[in-house]
Amino acid sequence: MKFEVQHTDAASDARAGLITTDHGQIQTPIFMPVGTVGSVKGVHFSELREQVKAQIILGNTYHLYLRPGLDILRQAGGLHKFNTWDRPILTDSGGFQVFSLTGIRKLREEGCEFRSHIDGSKHIFTPENVMDTERVIGADIMMAFDECPPGQSDYKYAENSLRLTQRWLERCVKRFNETEPLYGYNQTLFPIVQGCTYKDLRQDAAKHVCDVLAKLNDGGGASIGGLAVGEPTEVMYEMIEVVNEILPKDRPRYLMGVGTPQNILEGIERGVDMFDCVMPTRNGRNAMLFTYEGTMNMRNKKWENDFSPIDPDGCEIDRIHSKAYLHHLFKAQELLAMQIASIHNLAFYLRLVGDARQHIIAGDFVQWKRSVIDQLGRRR
Ligand code: GUN
Repeated sequence: MKFEVQHTDAASDARAGLITTDHGQIQTPIFMPVGTVGSVKGVHFSELREQVKAQIILGNTYHLYLRPGLDILRQAGGLHKFNTWDRPILTDSGGFQVFSLTGIRKLREEGCEFRSHIDGSKHIFTPENVMDTERVIGADIMMAFDECPPGQSDYKYAENSLRLTQRWLERCVKRFNETEPLYGYNQTLFPIVQGCTYKDLRQDAAKHVCDVLAKLNDGGGASIGGLAVGEPTEVMYEMIEVVNEILPKDRPRYLMGVGTPQNILEGIERGVDMFDCVMPTRNGRNAMLFTYEGTMNMRNKKWENDFSPIDPDGCEIDRIHSKAYLHHLFKAQELLAMQIASIHNLAFYLRLVGDARQHIIAGDFVQWKRSVIDQLGRRR
């Protein structure tokens, strides 16, 4: 993987860049649709390419390990071959998912024991076997195995958790450097910065990630985890600032699991390059659309006889279908309603980060952001 910063904003920490992987290039800042089990819910790959214009999608190690399992993924020749998505894929390590299985997991130095949410069977994730699993999935960008501590953790818990994540990171790097990709293209590793909402822990975590990046065999970038887990938004922004002040400028920075369109613009302003979130698809399935003019609840009766396009400036699907038709589909509980809404929302998120990129390059990102941010939060 290669990362090139093409333009840095004079009035903020925003940057426009280019990530090059063996499955193609990614223009940053970028939003990455979530494809947990190897599919983006309700959106076919042809639509991801042509409507959404996705440049990279996510997969999840926890889900893919449990189902279809490593045997099938190996036989298929990796996830790209299995699902036909031939652009870059990033895999989360399972750190986040395993730790949300409260009650059915046990945390040890060695790794994390957990029970499958599918059949209750017992498994263990260790830094070593997660690296091996991500090799089998064949993601272009692999996440390190981390503990994502609960949002309200006290200092002692947060510190112990960070030390464990740091020891696990050293083990991830060792295994990553000792192993080879299985399918003939390169893979890269992203360490994850943890430390809850404690400034000194975040600084410590960011410094450690810098040291680790210097030891990695192939490129590498930095992820910022453990945020958007219940802390006030302002605290999240402060943590991003603290961390980005330390992280190397010549590596991509990925803010995990964030967020609303407003959160994304605030993140970009603070120097974040990559984002993912289930919000566009999850909220879309629930009839909520994101637009530059604010959010719309498509079940609302006010759309019943509004025959204007869903979004006249949106993707083709937004332009050919009316608000009234989408309202009707939601009322009739048609699957197509969820599909159209998911495509619209993802296309909107990709348009938002694409516009941000254009404004960074044009040199007026901050003014543009200021002019759109309040509207984005409005209810239409
Ligand atoms: N997704 C959102 N937050 C996190 C995190 O802290 N760790 C991991 N592995 N994934 C995440």
